[in-house]
Order: sequence, then structure tokens, then C-alpha cells
Amino acid sequence: MNLLLLGGTRFVGRHVAELATRRGHAVTTFTRGREAASPHAVRALTGDRDPRIGAGLAALAGHPFDAVVDLSGYVPRVVGASAAALADRVRRYLFVSSVSVYADLSYPDADESAPLATLADPATEDVLPNYGGLKAACEAVVRDACGSRATIVRPGLIVGPFDSTDRFGYWVARFVHPHLLGNRGAEAVVPAPPSRALQFIDARDLAAFIVDLVERDVGGTFNAVSPPGQWTFGVLAAALHAAADAPPGIAWVDDDVLVAQKVEPWTGLPLWLPAAEPDHAGFMHVSTARALEAGLGTRPLGETVADTATWLAARDNAAAWKHVLTGSAERAVVDAARRRTRA
Ligand SMILES: NC(=O)c1ccc[n+]([C@@H]2O[C@H](COP(=O)([O-])OP(=O)(O)OC[C@H]3O[C@@H](n4cnc5c(N)ncnc54)[C@H](OP(=O)(O)O)[C@@H]3O)[C@@H](O)[C@H]2O)c1
Repeated sequence: MNLLLLGGTRFVGRHVAELATRRGHAVTTFTRGREAASPHAVRALTGDRDPRIGAGLAALAGHPFDAVVDLSGYVPRVVGASAAALADRVRRYLFVSSVSVYADLSYPDADESAPLATLADPATEDVLPNYGGLKAACEAVVRDACGSRATIVRPGLIVGPFDSTDRFGYWVARFVHPHLLGNRGAEAVVPAPPSRALQFIDARDLAAFIVDLVERDVGGTFNAVSPPGQWTFGVLAAALHAAADAPPGIAWVDDDVLVAQKVEPWTGLPLWLPAAEPDHAGFMHVSTARALEAGLGTRPLGETVADTATWLAARDNAAAWKHVLTGSAERAVVDAARRRTRA
């Protein structure tokens, strides 16, 4: 199959390129050329997918494609340009969206029919504050252009090697390579209780799901993340502990202590959302029944931890973890939690 990736060189896309190539497909990437070219692509086309910038998608002309995986769509006007250009040239257009499209994740087990976020200003192209609403609008544009040839994949948190957000990577570093985080105490702060839900997907499992859907020419919309309830902070802590030569002790710390110590949810302590956050009950607990039926698989957590640790050990980490709690802040949280237990 001639497979076009709109993207393909940073994280999920590079895993899609690698897997598709291993399965015998001819991969073409289309990027601005800011990231290094994929070693797996037979052809690396260059351009900005925004038709208002330079030659836009002109480099795609004349190349035959069987399917496209759109990994870099955030603005409906821009996604509309590629969907219009490719709708009649491919048998499948797979758009990588996000579970952030849901309007309300204050309850568990949202499935693909749950209401979607809308945009206060439908013309906005300001991605950061409107990410979910814009992704939902991009999905609509792809469906309008491609009809039954559209496939929408909505990943939750994506983790694993080449994840430059360093959210999951923080936890791997804290347990397996603590020196990467500077001077750290003997105990790692982990948000209590151990039963706290976690949901994420290894980028390689996501890549396999994407390539499978395209190979089998499956349409529809799929939440793509680990099954709800499969993983918790307790399960993650055990996997991290098992992967480390000299694991730190674990200080299980309640929300109110973390909040009182001014730990920033999600950024200060990655993957931590206090129970008081509106999306707490649902963001890490979306339904995956439809994706599981369509073949989504999840590798053992220990494999994701080990491979992330190997990747971190080889990477330049100078720019990483600028916003996580510092070693001294972490010690202060441990002390505060201990004072609380004694009181
Ligand atoms: N990370 C998460 O936890 C998470 C969760 C849910 C959903 N998602 C979604 O997952 C998708 C995958 O992201 P990824 O970064 O891993 O994919 P990727 O395909 O590995 O990397 C993004 C690619 O897009 C290219 N690109 C960016 N802007 C471009 C433009 N204007 N024109 C042409 N090429 C452009 C980049 O190369 P150049 O910079 O060289 O152009 C890069 O190759 C995204 O759609 C994201 O919304 C992510």
C-alpha cells in the first residue's frame, strides 16, 4: 500500500512509519522539514499543510496514495484543505484526533457517542485554549469530505519512546534514572490513593491500531487508549519500582496536601489531576469497548517503562522537566505528608 503520513517524524508518526514499513507498505511523509526525516519513509515530501503558507500541499501532486494518516491536524481550515485534496485520491483518510474532543468528561465511561466540545468562536485558530473544540471541528471536516472513507481515532494520553512531552517520562526518570531530575530525596511523591485511575496508550500500540484499521479499511470513530480500570497509579508505581535498580521509597500523598503545597496539577506532578478537577472522573476513564472490538491491544506496562527508560538514557535531557516540582519541593511535600500522618 502507498501510505501518506501528514506528519510522521516526531512521535506517533515515526512509530506509524516504522511499523507500516515493517509490514511492507511504502510510506511517504509530508512535513515542513523541521524534524529530521524518517529513516523509514521511501519519500519525504516537504511543505506546509496550511494552504496560506508557501506552496501549501503542492508537493503531494502526482503521487498515488492508497490511504492517508493525518497526524498533524489542529485547525479545521487547514485539515479541510488536505481532506479536499485527497478525498478522491485515497480509499481511506484516517484522522488522529483526541479524547479531548468530549464536551464533558466529569463522568466515567464516555463512549464515542458522547457530546463533543464546540467553539465559542467557530473561526478561531488559537489551538492551545481551544484544542478539544478545534479537534472536534477537524473531525467534522474530514467526515464531510470523505464520508464512509473517513476513520477517526481519538487517543487518550500517548506515552513511550520519543514522547517529548515528558509526562510519562517524568515517572520513568523519577524511579529508574532519578539523576536526570537533579538532586532527589529518598522518597518519590506519588498521588494517593493507589487505586487512582490512569489511562494511556503506548505510541507503538496506537501505531499498530492505526495501521491495522487502514490495512483492513475500517471506518468509524474509536477512542484509543488502555481499557478503563486496567491501570492505576498503584499499578504504575509497581511497574516503575520493578524496573529500577535502586528504586526510591514511595510517599503516597493525598490531594489536599499536594494542593496545599502548591503542586501544579498535570505539570508539577505529571498525570496527576486532583479529584476536584471537573474532568477527574472521566479523563482517565473513557470507554474503549469499540476499539477493543476492532483490535486495539496494549503491551505489558513493564515493556513501555523499560523502553522509555532506554530511550531517556540515550537522549539529551537538557530541555526536559522544566516545570515539574523540584527536588526540594518534593522533599517539602514528603515532610508535609508525614506531619499530616502524625497529627
Ligand atoms: N501526545 C498526546 O498525548 C496526544 C494525545 C491525544 C492526541 N494526540 C494527537 O496525536 C497526533 C500525533 O502527534 P505527533 O506529534 O506524535 O505526530 P508526528 O507525525 O510524529 O509528528 C507531527 C508531524 O507533523 C509535522 N507538521 C507539523 N505541523 C506541520 C505543518 N503545518 N505542515 C506540515 N507538517 C507539519 C511535523 O514535522 P515538521 O515540524 O518538520 O513540519 C511532524 O512530522 C496529534 O494530532 C495530536 O493532536 C496526542
